[in-house]
Amino acid sequence: MAPKITVIGTGYLGATHAAAMAELGFEVLGLDISPEKIATLSAGEVPMYEPGLEELLRKHVAGHPGASGRLRFTTSYEEVGEFGDIHFVCVNTPQKHGEYACDMSYVDSAFASLAPHLRRPALVVGKSTVPVGSAERLAALLTEQAPAGEGAELAWNPEFLREGFAVQDTLHPDRIVIGVTSERAEKQLREVYERPLAEGSPLVVTDFPTAELVKAAANSFLATKISFINAMAEVCEAAGGDVAKLAEALGHDDRIGPKFLRAGIGFGGGCLPKDIRAFMARAGELGSPQALAFLREVDSINMRRRGHMVELAREAAGGSFLGVRVAVLGAAFKPDSDDVRDSPALNVAGQIHLQGGQVTVYDPKAMENARRVFPTLGYAPSALEAARGADVVLHLTEWREFRELDPAALGEVVTGRHLLDGRNALDADRWREAGWTYRALGRPRA
Ligand code: UDX
Repeated sequence: MAPKITVIGTGYLGATHAAAMAELGFEVLGLDISPEKIATLSAGEVPMYEPGLEELLRKHVAGHPGASGRLRFTTSYEEVGEFGDIHFVCVNTPQKHGEYACDMSYVDSAFASLAPHLRRPALVVGKSTVPVGSAERLAALLTEQAPAGEGAELAWNPEFLREGFAVQDTLHPDRIVIGVTSERAEKQLREVYERPLAEGSPLVVTDFPTAELVKAAANSFLATKISFINAMAEVCEAAGGDVAKLAEALGHDDRIGPKFLRAGIGFGGGCLPKDIRAFMARAGELGSPQALAFLREVDSINMRRRGHMVELAREAAGGSFLGVRVAVLGAAFKPDSDDVRDSPALNVAGQIHLQGGQVTVYDPKAMENARRVFPTLGYAPSALEAARGADVVLHLTEWREFRELDPAALGEVVTGRHLLDGRNALDADRWREAGWTYRALGRPRA
């Protein structure tokens, strides 16, 4: 009999994982402590913007017309304990306020709530991004607190999904990493991932600390790659070089590769910034702060990008933001997402507002979240409306919609045709031909 699966925590990661497990043919029960979230998901609605997720949810959620009915949601740990053979823990580990370390309280309380309901043999699988060493501690807690004792086993299975591609990344992962301490756990996870494994996703089987570290290392590498190219952008600007051409040339080297070399206002979101900080904090606790000292530089290069964008905007505005109208295209931390957590775009918009600029923001999907975080900024229902009367236009999140904008039409409604491309993603020639001064980070002025 196929194992029954539960997913604890139905945020980005958990909601996607639950729907994907149902798609793979399993009976799934998702749990969240938020009754509102559970009501929304049970009604077949996804509380965030993630392409393809709502369709997948509706394909499986019980009660939706034509759905497989394999997916249900609850707020009861008791029900989860009774139902599941394999429990995936997908709660978040945000950065602690005012500290580098991540907040483990959601993970700790998920384990503490689940353990007393594990009365028969079960596999608990951690997916949350945690400081190395957590799995060992949580495994001991399970054995101690679960009525099933040693029958309640732990595995660690980090998740590498990207927002905007969550469904695709979950159904067709580019690798599956599992940290296990028994053959039984490995066998059970091989069964869960049978389809992606058959389709060619590589499997790496390892111990707890390595599995936990893979995630921290992967995100650190990605962050480093972005900060590397952004550091090159700084030098290009100083020397009159073109970072886009430089990245293109670097990318032809197979050992470097072309991805994650787009210079701009840097990385944001709920993962990369907090994960590199939590990794540094953990290395410090382990007595190896030197090993990750370079990540401090990665972080500071990244944060400098935002300030530099503000400086360029101020320059384009004539030296001061007072009385200046600035249109900001983009609020999400990246396109195809409505997530504004640590969004470079919104940070730049906020800084300009605080320096006296009159900022109007437009984003195709993140308006509601942006308004909640920054209610004092101006918001417009379209790029054209945001640009109406603007002295300077900033392109800060590279939505496709912005690449397809008509520079001539936008030129008609603005006061000053100054465009700053914070993502190096627009066609400079098209904008210049339509009479704009186009400037991008790390590239020569026209
Ligand atoms: C990241 C990891 O990619 C994923 O594997 C992990 O599971 C979670 O963290 P995500 O946060 O969804 O995923 O976004 P990602 O696509 O990695 O982009 C992160 C940030 O880097 C964005 O702000 C993006 O705009 C920026 N970025 C990305 C660049 O500035 N330049 C690039 O070349 C690529």
